[in-house]
Amino acid sequence: MRVGFLGSGPMTRAIGARLAAAGYEVVVGSRDARRAEEVAAGMGASVTGADHRVAASCEVVVVAVHDPVAIETVAGLRDLLAGAVLIDLGNPLDPPHWESRLAGGPSLAERIAEAAPSARVVKAFNTVYAELLALPAPAGAPAPQTFVASDDEAAKSLVMDLARSIGTDPLDAGPLRMSRHLEAVAGFEVALTARGFADAVAVRFSPA
Ligand SMILES: NC(=O)c1ccc[n+]([C@@H]2O[C@H](COP(=O)([O-])OP(=O)(O)OC[C@H]3O[C@@H](n4cnc5c(N)ncnc54)[C@H](OP(=O)(O)O)[C@@H]3O)[C@@H](O)[C@H]2O)c1
Repeated sequence: MRVGFLGSGPMTRAIGARLAAAGYEVVVGSRDARRAEEVAAGMGASVTGADHRVAASCEVVVVAVHDPVAIETVAGLRDLLAGAVLIDLGNPLDPPHWESRLAGGPSLAERIAEAAPSARVVKAFNTVYAELLALPAPAGAPAPQTFVASDDEAAKSLVMDLARSIGTDPLDAGPLRMSRHLEAVAGFEVALTARGFADAVAVRFSPA
């Protein structure tokens, strides 16, 4: 399975390297295909770099651009994204208190679904710091838990399998609307980290 990333930042490097190690073909998609090739070169043999359009043509596409440009980036690629499983891991947070700039309305994930109505949008990985996902995994650290939300049950299931295959512990958080909570949880984590707490993973759930 090919997984394309829009953006070449820390989340792409961390999750992309784990996917490559797990046997996926990965395409790093950047505004600058040359930068994408440089980033891809450090991530594993099955990783290539390209522009956004190539990345957006994969079966699974991860929106990993700087969050203020996520909606316009997806809107510009909507035709290519038709039918793709589209993972949104963005957090629309602003300092100093790291509240969601979209609070009170639809989440970033729901707005991404509006921008690409034929894509199968899944919220995942947004509450996990890139450093916790980077390889090698910290010694003795538990598998990072990730919350997965979508209105498309088959797409959600595929993303949960993908999350397991890269050594994270996925939890079915329900429909895409739950992204409103997930984005707020990420804000809580970042705000605690900004207050000096290390590894601020706000919540962890166990099976009942
Ligand atoms: N870092 C974390 O720990 C973390 C954790 C959870 C969720 N997130 C979320 O994950 C997403 C990616 O975060 P990140 O920390 O990996 O990277 P980031 O610093 O937010 O940027 C990601 C990439 O976006 C592209 N980009 C930057 N400015 C742009 C612009 N004006 N227009 C189009 N593309 C632009 C760049 O890629 P190119 O230059 O290659 O185009 C950049 O490498 C964000 O939505 C963030 O909220 C981050």
